Amino acid sequence: MASSTYFMFKLCFTIFLLIHYGHQVYAQLSPDFYSTSCPKAPFIIKSIVISAVATELRMGASLLRLHFHDCFVNGCDGSLLLDSTANFTSEKLAKPNLNSLRGFEVVDKIKSELERVCPGVVSCADILAIVARDATVVLGGAPWIVYLGRRDSTTASASAADVQLPSPFSNLSTLISDFKNKGLTPKDLVALSGSHTIGMTRCTVYRSRIYNDTNINKGYAASLKKICPISGDDSNLAPLDTTTPNIFDSAYYTNLLNFKGILHSDQALFNGGNGLIDYQVKAYTANSLSFLKDFGDSMIRMGNISPLTGSNGEIRSNCRKAN
Ligand code: HEM
Ligand SMILES: *[C@@H]1O[C@H](CO)[C@@H](O)[C@H](O)[C@H]1NC(C)=O
Ligand SMILES: *[C@@H]1O[C@H](CO)[C@@H](O)[C@H](O)[C@H]1NC(C)=O
Ligand SMILES: *[C@@H]1O[C@H](CO)[C@@H](O)[C@H](O)[C@H]1NC(C)=O
Repeated sequence: MASSTYFMFKLCFTIFLLIHYGHQVYAQLSPDFYSTSCPKAPFIIKSIVISAVATELRMGASLLRLHFHDCFVNGCDGSLLLDSTANFTSEKLAKPNLNSLRGFEVVDKIKSELERVCPGVVSCADILAIVARDATVVLGGAPWIVYLGRRDSTTASASAADVQLPSPFSNLSTLISDFKNKGLTPKDLVALSGSHTIGMTRCTVYRSRIYNDTNINKGYAASLKKICPISGDDSNLAPLDTTTPNIFDSAYYTNLLNFKGILHSDQALFNGGNGLIDYQVKAYTANSLSFLKDFGDSMIRMGNISPLTGSNGEIRSNCRKAN
């Protein structure tokens, strides 16, 4: 792609987003929440994300995922980041998170730098929201406006994480209701699943799909069986997007059209029919800009799930423990 044309295009697109979405009001959150209290925050966060992703491309995916796993469990309140205490078990130990989530050290690094520059101001929940946007953009996605002003919880719930996070073994109707329970639509489900255009997954998660599912491309399943035997090697990794694993593009949806979704829950979004969900998947393959725009929209909606605001919660000084 001619890079200057691409750059101009992206710039216009960003301006378009600012004009059309800059004034939407989401609960008590606002884009300029820290503009006087910690004006450097966005730059500090972005530079640490950029260097973390430069060190390891996969880190972009790992960082994006944290905001999702925070928001879906009792709201976007930073509860995900708390380590276990005598009073609760950390969400990091919940089944969908254990040996799976990554990037906590990057969040710690951001938090300690922010505490140095403006102590007690920027919440851990908001750090995750900004990091998710920056990580997406670094890997080629389109920016969105991040609404801010979330406060941090003082507690966490591993059992809520087990129940509230969607499972990769679920069918479409279960996924739709998991999202509905969080105030999100089937359209949000399809757009947000597009985050699986980056990152990796473990054999233990995709094994049953490659050995037992029938709606999978045979050559694709065969190649995955080489790295994921019927037993053992549970932690062997495969890319979620077999085409462009480190680029935030719409290849994920093209893979679904070819029955190359790696998770059962990915392929559940496309069955070759003419339903509304199939239609949206096809639309995103034909128009990747509509995906990038919808993705940002849906991230804003996801980021608005039950935030703590006002005098609720606190601003943690260490994301791993309540003050
Ligand atoms: C629709 C329901 C979803 C299910 C069932 C699901 C499930 C999963 C699973 C099982 C993995 C691999 C974990 C492992 O093997 O250790 C994964 C990875 C990932 N998920 Fe999802 N996910 C969903 C939605 C989302 C959403 C909404 C986002 C972000 C907005 C997201 C972002 C990611 C990313 C970026 C990775 C790769 C992480 C890495 O490489 O470290 N997922 N997801
Ligand atoms: C556990 O909860 C009790 C009662 O709310 C509180 O006094 C105590 O400080 C908590 N312990 C820890 C380790 O957070
Ligand atoms: C989807 O999965 C749920 C839970 O396992 C099950 O009750 C339901 O019948 C399934 N729906 C379809 C359409 O297969
Ligand atoms: C495939 O399905 C069968 C029958 O449900 C089950 O016993 C077996 O463990 C599954 N295999 C894998 C690799 O998940």
